[in-house]
Amino acid sequence: MSRAESRIWNDVDAYLSALLAPEDEALTAALRDSDAAGLPHINVAPNQGKLLQLLAQVQGARRILEFGTLGGYSTIWLARALPEDGRLISFEYEVRHAEVARRNLDRAGLGRLVEVRVGPALQSLPKLADENPEPFDFVFIDADKANNRNYVEWALKLTRPGALIVLDNVVRAGRITDAGSDDPGIRGTRAALELIASHPRVSGTAVQTVGSKGHDGFALARVLY
Ligand code: SAH
Ligand code: DHB
Ligand code: MG
Repeated sequence: MSRAESRIWNDVDAYLSALLAPEDEALTAALRDSDAAGLPHINVAPNQGKLLQLLAQVQGARRILEFGTLGGYSTIWLARALPEDGRLISFEYEVRHAEVARRNLDRAGLGRLVEVRVGPALQSLPKLADENPEPFDFVFIDADKANNRNYVEWALKLTRPGALIVLDNVVRAGRITDAGSDDPGIRGTRAALELIASHPRVSGTAVQTVGSKGHDGFALARVLY
């Protein structure tokens, strides 16, 4: 991408986000405190957060599962789609990230609805399954990309028919097309996309995005039965 192109993408994202996905005090404070704590700037953009919120609302989601909390920015957008008796469980590997997220979620008034479970998601998942949780309506996968196929497999175990699974960062500036890549993240995401393509219980697609987060994309997968 040229500098001129990325400038246009940034300008368009700034325009669309300010108009259609304006951040309130809780969201700007969440990013400010994430930044102050040294967390990386890999949260979704505001217009992407709003997209996640709209998709969760279209789903009528009462139960949301998230992989990768970071400072809770996407979590705030998603939890705001929930009804009073809704629940969002978010997996986060880093204790420090989870602590920042906890404060951000409490300040946003969402503390009651959201549970952040600290540790590697692959260790938290069997524990969650043992609790026989009510099936989830919506899953956002945005953690370590190497495990993306494992996360889609777990999402299929924990969701109801009609649930929606959203996978972030499936394009990575085009690197996803490298079938011989030795990058574990690319391999994990390609394996996840192949599972979505071939699994009988799933109908899915993926779209590229450009914007303030560069050239990337989302995959969407609907659980059929
Ligand atoms: N969803 C967030 C961004 C998440 S960034 C947002 O858009 O605001 C990815 C997060 O996944 C990081 O905080 C990272 O610490 C976490 N992560 C990495 N490996 C993980 C693992 N094995 N289990 C759970 N979380 C993990
Ligand atoms: C990275 C991770 C993300 O979830 C994202 O949205 C962008 C970048 C990363 O690990 O580089
Ligand atoms: Mg992401």
